[in-house]
Amino acid sequence: MSLVLLLFVLSKGFKGSRVRDVRVRGFGTGGVDTWQTTPSVGWSRIVPKFHAAIVKFDIAYPYGKKHEEYTKLSAAGRGSPELLVAEVGVKDYGDMENMDLAERFGVTKEDFPKVKFFVNGKDKPFDFDGEFNAEELKKFIRRHSEVYIGLEGCLETFDRIVDRFMTTENQSDKKGLLRKAEDEWDKLKSPSDQQIAETYVKIMRKVLEKGGEFISLEKTRVEGLMIGRITKEKKEEMQGRLNVLKSFTHDEL
Ligand SMILES: *[C@@H]1O[C@H](CO)[C@@H](O)[C@H](O)[C@H]1NC(C)=O
Repeated sequence: MSLVLLLFVLSKGFKGSRVRDVRVRGFGTGGVDTWQTTPSVGWSRIVPKFHAAIVKFDIAYPYGKKHEEYTKLSAAGRGSPELLVAEVGVKDYGDMENMDLAERFGVTKEDFPKVKFFVNGKDKPFDFDGEFNAEELKKFIRRHSEVYIGLEGCLETFDRIVDRFMTTENQSDKKGLLRKAEDEWDKLKSPSDQQIAETYVKIMRKVLEKGGEFISLEKTRVEGLMIGRITKEKKEEMQGRLNVLKSFTHDEL
C-alpha cells in the first residue's frame, strides 16, 4: 500500500510533465561516479524501486557550494540502495524545461535550490529548511524515514543494532545486542572501522550500566570538549564520537 502511495505521489508530480533532465546519482549497482541524466521515460520505472527519494529542484546547470554539498550527499547515498538521490533542473527561459513540475510542487525560482523528500507511505513530501550541507541533509533524511544513510564516521551494522538496543526495555535483550555488537566488532578488518566499532560498544556498555541518560550527558560533555582548544585531529575524533552518539538518539537528529 505504501509503495503504491509513493508511486501515486510521484506520478502525480512527474507523469505527464516534461521531466527531461532528472539527474540521478547513486543509482545502479556498484555506484555511479558522475550524475547520470535519466530521461523522463525512465523515471516512472526507477522511482518505485526506492523507499524514498530526495529531489533537488535547481537551475538547469547548478554549481557552487550548495551543489557541491548535494553532490556529497549523493555520494553518501550510493551506499543506500533504498534511497534515490535526484535533481531536477528547471529552466525559466527557452523551453521552460521542468518549470511545470516545479510549479506543481510550489517551488519558485527564488527557492532554488529547493530540496523535497518523498517518503514511502507519506502523502506529502517533506521540505528541507535546514542549513544546506551534506550532514544536515543526511540528518533530515534520517529524521523523516527509516532509510539508512550514514553520518560521517558511523557504520550501518552498528546503527541498526543500536536502534534495537535503544528501543527495547528488556535488559537481557539489551545484553544480547551488546554481544552482537562485540561480535561484529571482531569481524572488522579495517583499523578505522574497528575504532568506530569500539566507540559504539563502549557507549552501549555505559548505557547498560547507567541507563539511557548517559547519552545526553556524554553528548554535552563531548560538545564542551569541542569548544575548547583542541587539535584538528582531536576535533575530528570528537565529531565522530558525537555522530555515533547521535545514532543512539534517532529522534533528536
Ligand atoms: C526478555 O526477553 C527474553 C528473550 O529475549 C525473554 O525470555 C524474557 O522473558 C524477557 N523479559 C521480560 C522482562 O520481558
